[in-house]
Amino acid sequence: VGAEDAEYLVSLVRSIPGFPKEGIIFRDFMPVLADARGLDVLMRALEAALPLPADEFDSIAGLESRGFLFGPALAHHLGKGFIAIRKAGKLPPETIGESYELEYGTATVEIETAAVAPGERVLIVDDLIATGGTAKAGADLIEKAGGTVAGFSFVMGLDGLDGLDRLGDVPVSTLISMP
Ligand code: PRP
Ligand code: ADE
Ligand code: MG
Repeated sequence: VGAEDAEYLVSLVRSIPGFPKEGIIFRDFMPVLADARGLDVLMRALEAALPLPADEFDSIAGLESRGFLFGPALAHHLGKGFIAIRKAGKLPPETIGESYELEYGTATVEIETAAVAPGERVLIVDDLIATGGTAKAGADLIEKAGGTVAGFSFVMGLDGLDGLDRLGDVPVSTLISMP
């Protein structure tokens, strides 16, 4: 995508200081999705920034909730299927789970063991990486379910929280860096 498109994408991100708690600047990408051009630019920008060639992964896994809002759209855009990593208690058995800490709380995510084929190469997507707790938990679940984490694609990366350092030696892309 061109510089103008990239700037347009950044201009749509809304920043809310003090939400959901004091000291946090909440970075909201919903306005990107709400905007027809924004959504189109997002798909093309994620494709252009893929951390590895599209023929080197088999599917896309998204993290509930915000990874569900564009993960399936990106999967369709790239001709892949979509795997859901959900917050605890939503998926029928058999599932495996992983608890983690994120920038402003703790949570547990789950995956259906049958959702990942042995050796399946999975690109994990989410809107944002802060501490990396969520992404790391998702990656651990893909591996526990028998897959391989091929890489991560994020729309936004927050500086200064070392989230990317927690992901190990796997290719990662972030479209927008923010404090
Ligand atoms: C948010 C965001 C990422 C995660 C990043 O999810 O969508 O998934 O935090 O934080 P981390 O890198 O510190 O783990 P959250 O669970 O708050 O809510 P959501 O259900 O709206 O995605
Ligand atoms: N998830 C974790 N930290 C966040 C932030 N600052 N804004 C939006 N989502 C987040
Ligand atoms: Mg999330």
